[in-house]
Amino acid sequence: MEAYLLEFGNMLLRWLHVIAAVAWIGESIYFVMLDNGLKSPRAAEDKQKGVFGEMWAVHGGGFYHNQKYATAPAKLPDDLHWSFWKAYTTWLSGFALFALLYLASPSIYLINPSSSWEWAANMTGWQANVAAVLFLLLGWVIYNELCKRISPNMERDGVLSIAVAVMMVVVSYISVHLFAGRAAFLLTGAVMATAMSANVFFWIIPGQRRMVKAMKAGETPNPIDGKRGKQRSVHNTYFTLPVVLLMLSNHYSFMYTHAYSWVIMALFIFAGALIRQFFVLMHQGNIRPAYPAAGVALILVAVWVAAPSSPPEASASANIETNGSAAMSSANGDVDIAQVQSIMTDRCVQCHAKNPSHAGFAAAPAGIILDSERHTTIQAQMVKQVVASGYMPLGNITKITDEERATIAAWEPEPL
Ligand code: HEC
Repeated sequence: MEAYLLEFGNMLLRWLHVIAAVAWIGESIYFVMLDNGLKSPRAAEDKQKGVFGEMWAVHGGGFYHNQKYATAPAKLPDDLHWSFWKAYTTWLSGFALFALLYLASPSIYLINPSSSWEWAANMTGWQANVAAVLFLLLGWVIYNELCKRISPNMERDGVLSIAVAVMMVVVSYISVHLFAGRAAFLLTGAVMATAMSANVFFWIIPGQRRMVKAMKAGETPNPIDGKRGKQRSVHNTYFTLPVVLLMLSNHYSFMYTHAYSWVIMALFIFAGALIRQFFVLMHQGNIRPAYPAAGVALILVAVWVAAPSSPPEASASANIETNGSAAMSSANGDVDIAQVQSIMTDRCVQCHAKNPSHAGFAAAPAGIILDSERHTTIQAQMVKQVVASGYMPLGNITKITDEERATIAAWEPEPL
């Protein structure tokens, strides 16, 4: 019952998280489009009022006329529309979801038992949880320090973008060594997403509040607040596409179980930013196909890097008898389904059954049931892939042996 309620809570949080993120990113993309698509005001009186640009649009059966002021209108209305709750809701629901799933079961989802950093592979659940939270926190602190030190007055924003790009490669590299692949992709996305929300919380909104306060007091707002808000909001724009991809990546184990998964991750981060750049420029009327072409080229490199090397090789030890249950054969590829099923029974059905016995699971994860020879044969290709890549059993919690992995690699399922 408890596991069921947790899974239900997980689903509701995910629903909220996706809705909030769609609303936030949608609004953010809309405002970047608006800002870049502004044209000089046509009416002389608008220019006199201090209007710097305008956009006429038609949407949902109505006509809209947006105007942007160079600094501010002579008088600010009291009912200004502010955008921040969407950003905060996205972060809060995302963190709650992360806590419910990953922090609640670190030994299944967070720890990477095959990390080449031995101390990371041997972390306890608590250590892994602390490491994950610190990872997010440090990600923000370092990004924020880079912004403050390299381009405090927005004078070296180009150098800053290079520094942030290098930082993301380092984050990708560290994350796959510290955490299980699925968590590593999620946490790298979360480092960017946390920077995005924290940019809104610590810089953009407070800056806007200071500007409004100054204007209401009849003073000129400090232009640095506007410029800094813009700097951080530009970063947010380039983070959006990569973040969405990294958040979705946990459906695609071929990406994060690869030995060079950090390279794949970095390639996608750059591809996302390049593709976003195309749209930013396009709204300024500047069509530059080289950007998406470069993005697609990076994705093709990722396709090449992520390609499975060769079908998993069965070693001689594949024929060592497991559990004494199977008819043995000496030739590779002649593994009996009964042998495979006995491995499933020992290492997989704790989770992959209609009613899992492993704590925390209310139903078969990913809908994969492996409790009978027939079920296992139906899922054969996926079973072979996830066992060969080391993705399953999650966190190797059921301690599958290399011999057993080799047996499954050597298994050639009979057609059903
Ligand atoms: C501790 C519980 C647990 C154990 C043990 C476990 N799995 Fe899984 N398995 C999961 C979870 C959770 C998912 C869903 C992960 C996801 O959403 O990507 C999953 C997903 C899968 C998938 C689908 C992967 C995909 O890309 O969609 C396959 C296939 C699979 N497991 C096979 C196995 C096999 C084979 C074993 C035994 C060698 C095994 N699992 C052991 C929890 C477990």
